Amino acid sequence: MLFEECVRGRRSVRKFSDQDISQSVLEEIVDLARFSPSWKNTQVPRYHVIKNPQIKEEIARNCVLNFDFNAKTILRCKALVLVTVVEKLSGYEPDGSFSTSQGDRWEMFDAGIATQTFCLSAYAKGVGSVILGVFDENKIRQYISLPQGERVTNLIALGYPLEPAKAAPPRKDVSELLHVVE
Ligand SMILES: Cc1cc2nc3c(=O)[nH]c(=O)nc-3n(C[C@H](O)[C@H](O)[C@H](O)COP(=O)(O)O)c2cc1C
Repeated sequence: MLFEECVRGRRSVRKFSDQDISQSVLEEIVDLARFSPSWKNTQVPRYHVIKNPQIKEEIARNCVLNFDFNAKTILRCKALVLVTVVEKLSGYEPDGSFSTSQGDRWEMFDAGIATQTFCLSAYAKGVGSVILGVFDENKIRQYISLPQGERVTNLIALGYPLEPAKAAPPRKDVSELLHVVE
């Protein structure tokens, strides 16, 4: 798939078919996501993929801050990805101090880049995705054991799309976004 088609064609998908996502497809998606740039190549993002329907249901019912829209998406998806970051590496000096005034925000930055690459890679393989930012990390930890020293940055609901994508929601004009100083 051409890069431009991949970027323009990807849409957030919230309705999924029953088709399973194979282990090899998940591995191919992460194989591309790992080429995302990261702070000093620290490669802190991790992907915990929940296929277990009971755990997915507990997260949908109890861990989305009562945002029913996300609960429905999680119930419909075939796999729920918990994107985490290994803490205290991205944006930090070896002595544990922050490298810049951005503090620990570079962790989120790295997770964001990796998440976009993950979603584009999924799209190129026909797998739909939507990033979910409304969730309760502490509650999620009651239903799944995550490694110590990792924090959840975002979720990604995954599955093969149930229906053809609608047109992209409107984007701002380039002239509103771009400011060139000569
Ligand atoms: C950081 C972030 C958080 C988001 N959180 C949610 C969410 O909680 N629920 C949801 O349905 N969509 C969520 N989205 C998806 C956006 O609503 C979506 O990307 C946007 O409307 C543009 O649509 P498109 O992805 O189809 O281009 C999130 C996207 C980002 C980047």
